Amino acid sequence: MEKVRAALYGVGVIGSMVAKSLLEKEGVTIVSAIDIAKEKVGKDLGDIIGLQKKLGIKVSNTIDEQFSRTKPDIAIHTTSSFLKDTYPQIASIVKHGVNVVSTCEELSYPYTTEPKLAEELDTLAKKHDATVLGTGINPGFLMDALVIILTAPCQKIEKIEVTRVMNAATRRLPFQRKIGAGLTVGEFKRKIESKQITGHVGLEQSVAMIADALAWKLDRIKVEPVEPVIAKNAVESEAIRVKAGNAAGLRQKVKGVMRGREVVILDFQAYIGAEEEYDTVTVKGVPPINQKISPCVHGDVGTIAMVVNMIPKVINAPPGLLTMKDLPIPSATVEDMRKYIIT
Ligand SMILES: NC(=O)c1ccc[n+]([C@@H]2O[C@H](COP(=O)([O-])OP(=O)(O)OC[C@H]3O[C@@H](n4cnc5c(N)ncnc54)[C@H](OP(=O)(O)O)[C@@H]3O)[C@@H](O)[C@H]2O)c1
Repeated sequence: MEKVRAALYGVGVIGSMVAKSLLEKEGVTIVSAIDIAKEKVGKDLGDIIGLQKKLGIKVSNTIDEQFSRTKPDIAIHTTSSFLKDTYPQIASIVKHGVNVVSTCEELSYPYTTEPKLAEELDTLAKKHDATVLGTGINPGFLMDALVIILTAPCQKIEKIEVTRVMNAATRRLPFQRKIGAGLTVGEFKRKIESKQITGHVGLEQSVAMIADALAWKLDRIKVEPVEPVIAKNAVESEAIRVKAGNAAGLRQKVKGVMRGREVVILDFQAYIGAEEEYDTVTVKGVPPINQKISPCVHGDVGTIAMVVNMIPKVINAPPGLLTMKDLPIPSATVEDMRKYIIT
């Protein structure tokens, strides 16, 4: 079997890390790279991702010529967070009959926030025999797929509570920016309100995915206001310095309410200087489940792994828009990528 042919669509921080991970893997080869950033178009991919060598792949902003010539099996799509922005990009990939693994957070479970676009994308993907998946570490695993797996041994479930606490100092700069690290509290509130910063995107999608897996019909998904976490003392990461009294990051809670009761509670905290980092899942049920990952899974490293590890599962899957709940149990691809492809 030939090597899996991968295209990168978006060569920012995550796309570059995915590229490096794919270059280290057996059984997969990068065949093209797409990005719109002026400083990247026309340059060699090796230079863009910070290697000391050329890869012979020029970053291009025109997908049709690239994909017709290089015929990828899969595109790793890493540009932005909301489906209304990424829909045209993903549609342009799917029209070439190419499968997609995307880090677009809303795509991880788009049926409640963008039902029409989700349906259109599903129809388009089926028409062109392509499979589309939105994934990553969160949404995509820690606060949804993993939670769903942990409910498997339960006979009854009353309530699910999931908490993720991370020290944002070790995360990539775009992430530190979107959680408002370093802003004054006033700036933080203004920027969140005007959507200049998004905070973490994906909690609504994770709540909806968990509820769907359990066939729970929620009355509503309650999105609580995003709160800044205020630095008690000055703290810093490589790129951002947070003065005492300013926002070091944020805390967000989203809840699934059913028959007037909060049945799913997701609590996300990311700030520079968090001392204890962990991921916990508590299922109040029969039997009760209490799981803690300590320290928490590193978001960027975990996202790269999720994206790469889902490639064979997406290639093996039937066409259409799928979510992590629809695919076989996720697992690592530590061997040659071709060993995981069903021929
Ligand atoms: N699900 C998860 O767990 C997870 C985890 C990590 C990241 N993410 C998400 O993944 C996305 C990428 O993250 P990142 O940190 O790599 O962001 P980034 O550094 O800003 O990279 C995005 C790249 O895509 C390019 N781009 C934007 N629009 C494009 C278009 N229409 N066509 C082609 N290229 C385009 C950008 O160019 P410009 O700079 O010119 O805009 C940039 O080079 C973000 O939305 C992030 O929130 C999700």
